[in-house]
Amino acid sequence: MSLALKKSIIMRLIFDYELDKVAAIEKKSYPINEALSMETIAHCEKSAPEVFLAAMKINDSNPEHNTLFGYICGSLCAAGSLTEESMHTHQPNGEVYCIHSVCVDEKYRGKGIAEWMLQVHGGEWLPFLQPQVKSRNLICKQEQISFFQSAGFELVGASEIKRGARQWYEMRQEMRRR
Ligand SMILES: CC(C)(COP(=O)(O)OP(=O)(O)OC[C@H]1O[C@@H](n2cnc3c(N)ncnc32)[C@H](O)[C@@H]1OP(=O)(O)O)[C@@H](O)C(=O)NCCC(=O)NCCS
Repeated sequence: MSLALKKSIIMRLIFDYELDKVAAIEKKSYPINEALSMETIAHCEKSAPEVFLAAMKINDSNPEHNTLFGYICGSLCAAGSLTEESMHTHQPNGEVYCIHSVCVDEKYRGKGIAEWMLQVHGGEWLPFLQPQVKSRNLICKQEQISFFQSAGFELVGASEIKRGARQWYEMRQEMRRR
């Protein structure tokens, strides 16, 4: 990512009033039956707000006009492969952080933002704020496997979770101990 871009964006925790923006990006970014519902987005914010990361372009003169363009959200679940249940429940001391969505607004893609968000989230936030977490897992489409592998995840295999017509694959990354 360019230095100029890095200087103009921040990553921080999400605020309640920004969940609508997340829902709007989510809706644009996935086919209709694959996007997280507002209910699930709110579930992530309620369950694990300390690791609901938002990336935005800052507006120095008016922070209320920051442009949110990316996020990582999820909840905690018990060890093992992700299931439909892991996507809807939250176990406060769970050892797996189940990423429900890692998403960047279309206009901002291809600039290294997702890679950076994943680095910050997994390298700094999760290990400090949820130290019991042993891995973070997610599901993605086949053509995204190489992207997540380059970000440090390994392929677990085909997921039992159904989203739309296509097969999803589970990816897993072990968390380094601090
Ligand atoms: C997947 C997604 C988050 C990537 O965001 P992004 O900010 O464009 O990704 P980055 O710019 O950080 O990509 C980093 C690298 O991965 C590559 N990459 C990005 N998407 C890729 C893909 N689908 N397949 C293979 N490589 C990919 C980029 O070319 C880049 O490589 P480079 O550094 O060698 O140029 C974005 O496309 C998105 O929001 N998609 C819709 C939501 C989604 O499907 N999320 C994943 C399931 S949870």
